[in-house]
Amino acid sequence: MERNLLITLMLVGLTLQATQTLAKPKGKSSKLPAFLKVCHRDSPDLNVCARESFESLEPRLMDGIPELYIPPMEPLRVPEIKMDQDSGAIYLHSMYKNVKISGISKHTLNNLSIDPSQLKFTLSLTFPKLKLESEYSIKGKIMMMPMLGDGNCQVELTNITMATELFGEEYMKNGASYLRIKDIKVKYDLANVHMQLDNLFNGDKALGQRMNDFLNENWKSLSDEVRPLMIKALVDILRASIDKLFEAFSYDELLPTMKQ
Ligand SMILES: *[C@@H]1O[C@H](CO)[C@@H](O)[C@H](O)[C@H]1NC(C)=O
Ligand SMILES: *[C@@H]1O[C@H](CO)[C@@H](O)[C@H](O)[C@H]1NC(C)=O
Repeated sequence: MERNLLITLMLVGLTLQATQTLAKPKGKSSKLPAFLKVCHRDSPDLNVCARESFESLEPRLMDGIPELYIPPMEPLRVPEIKMDQDSGAIYLHSMYKNVKISGISKHTLNNLSIDPSQLKFTLSLTFPKLKLESEYSIKGKIMMMPMLGDGNCQVELTNITMATELFGEEYMKNGASYLRIKDIKVKYDLANVHMQLDNLFNGDKALGQRMNDFLNENWKSLSDEVRPLMIKALVDILRASIDKLFEAFSYDELLPTMKQ
């Protein structure tokens, strides 16, 4: 059977559950932190202000901003990602624990824009290199070959551009207008992937090396196949923080009008 078809079968319908601990604000007061540069939604300079606000937050982003429900970003830690697929003879169960993602701080901001009339927020970032390290356990089949392993893995992603579009909607809560997420769209492009799974096949070095070579030679089709899954993982991670931010602060607190 063709490689690509098998890879497709293996990965279609994967479900992912990402669990992660989120920073909690200290105390109960829902006041925006004083260091946040607040922008006015009816200002003609809204996008300039938003970019300045983002840039002034950047040094803090890396350690996390609990007041804004933003977890530490350098490294970003995700306790567990689980991917399961079951379809007849083809199956793949994999689990990644203590996922550590580094390289997020070395990004460039391509675009940050807010369109209040549509409640649309656009953010595009490029990361020259992201490194993922985790413990993994995989059991399944790739190309009729058993895929079995349990150990450490490293993945290096080169030159990723990630564009996020968030559409919000307003609703009333306790007499004030709040935002909630209507939709998040994430797109990404990347130039290269290199991965290394240690201890495949109970430590059989020759088999393990062959599988790693196969994965690296085929990263492009693999990465296309896992794209929906990766996007879901990214959306889940973003959504977890943004939901909390939108719940804690009203629209007028987040993006006041100039008269307020
Ligand atoms: C930034 O995003 C906005 C909204 O999606 C878009 O209209 C604009 O063309 C983008 N700007 C750049 C420089 O890509
Ligand atoms: C990185 O990606 C950007 C946008 O996709 C592209 O313009 C640039 O040439 C890439 N650089 C490298 C070194 O791959």
